[in-house]
Amino acid sequence: MSTPLAAALEKALQGRVRRSVPVTDLHDDIIPCPAADLFSNDYLSLCTDTRLRQAFIDNISKEPLVFGTGGSRLLNGNASAHLEFEDRMKTFFGAPAALLFNSGYDANVAFWHSIPQTGDAVILDELIHASTRDGLMASRARTALYPFSHNSAASLRDTILHVLRAHPAIAAGKATAFIALEGLYSMDGDFAPLPEVVRLVEELLPAGCGHIVVDEAHSTAIYGAQGRGLVAALGLEDRIDTVLHTFGKARALTGAVLLCSPTVRKYIINYGRPFIYSTSISHSMMCALSTSFDYIESSAGEELISSLHHISRTFESKLIAALQYTPSHLLALPARSTPADFPSNVVSPIFPILTSYPIPLARFLRNLGYRTRPLPYPVVPRGQERVRIVMHARNTEEELDELIAHLLAWSLELQEEEKKEKEKEVLLATEEVATSKSEPAKDKALFTISLPGTALRIAVSVRSFV
Ligand SMILES: Cc1ncc(COP(=O)(O)O)c(C=O)c1O
Repeated sequence: MSTPLAAALEKALQGRVRRSVPVTDLHDDIIPCPAADLFSNDYLSLCTDTRLRQAFIDNISKEPLVFGTGGSRLLNGNASAHLEFEDRMKTFFGAPAALLFNSGYDANVAFWHSIPQTGDAVILDELIHASTRDGLMASRARTALYPFSHNSAASLRDTILHVLRAHPAIAAGKATAFIALEGLYSMDGDFAPLPEVVRLVEELLPAGCGHIVVDEAHSTAIYGAQGRGLVAALGLEDRIDTVLHTFGKARALTGAVLLCSPTVRKYIINYGRPFIYSTSISHSMMCALSTSFDYIESSAGEELISSLHHISRTFESKLIAALQYTPSHLLALPARSTPADFPSNVVSPIFPILTSYPIPLARFLRNLGYRTRPLPYPVVPRGQERVRIVMHARNTEEELDELIAHLLAWSLELQEEEKKEKEKEVLLATEEVATSKSEPAKDKALFTISLPGTALRIAVSVRSFV
């Protein structure tokens, strides 16, 4: 039976389809994928690592408790494993305090909804993750949010100066300006200019009134000694206030740890709703987390990290060489550069491939078994439509060559189609002009052209050709 609710929901979903926003029912993206993994966040290929799997089986078989904890940390679910692991995180990352969360999403929502206080302001990179935004929407500072242009130190400087003018309490050293960043941005595969950000915050804001938060979801485990992350790789641990490491990407599990001050930790435990109102991490996941940290800290982890960096460099040079003769509206790598003051071994494993045809390209790759999703407009701004490719420690050069060959084959196919469409246009226009010679040219649509592989239709008028 159709209900008003079902009708409203269906209408909204169909609206998404009309706007080319991908809609899924999750029946079509089942892992493991049949083709090489060149798209997931499993940067170190640990999800399928047999040695890690065996280490976990050995460890879990010795655990007396393996299932759930039976409650939230505040209500019967606070296990010694949680506290021991938080101590380990504190020592490993050299942080004043550490707090575990069920996910990175929960950690961001808990931090951002609870920590900024009335009178504070939040300066955020315009591309900051949805979890930070969701937290901020429920924050006391939700009316004092100041986005700055993605990764632009100049825009950050202007925004800080604006915030100082708009919030005299911050300028007077009586309130806080938060700065929300990610280490490595997953959509563009580029890095926040962290040393520059730290310098600006220290230079422009009164001492103690700038609070920098770095989300290392995509940079944890793949940079820094034993995978301590980008902040550690840059030696900025003491100048960045709060750092989030999530476990769902390179660490192949779920959960997250927030490195923060003991006061922030205590405040979130008592005010952070996702922390308070959710069952704590299960015993088996705690065991898996310890095993994953052991593994990445060992020489096996070191090898995987350097293999990821090597394959990422290899892919970049292969891709640049392969795309040099491809029309840039079909396939292009955006111009991006790693900040000059970064160590040379900080290499991005994420490659956005810009294309005017993200949906046909993703469909083409999916038909070959790859698990990619398009990022069309309006998911990303116009001109920024893309498909993302991600490197993993265990990707092989053959897998890269194969993917690049497919990309080039698709591009050639599309160039051929575009050529045919153009010829058709010219032919039709010539015929039309010939038959309507006696009539004055009118600016009305004569016919429409469907762009190959898209739902886009263009109306063509006589004026286009005369
Ligand atoms: C930058 C960033 N922060 C936080 C999260 C959320 O982390 P989790 O998947 O652990 O909930 C993600 C996940 O996509 C992310 O990309």
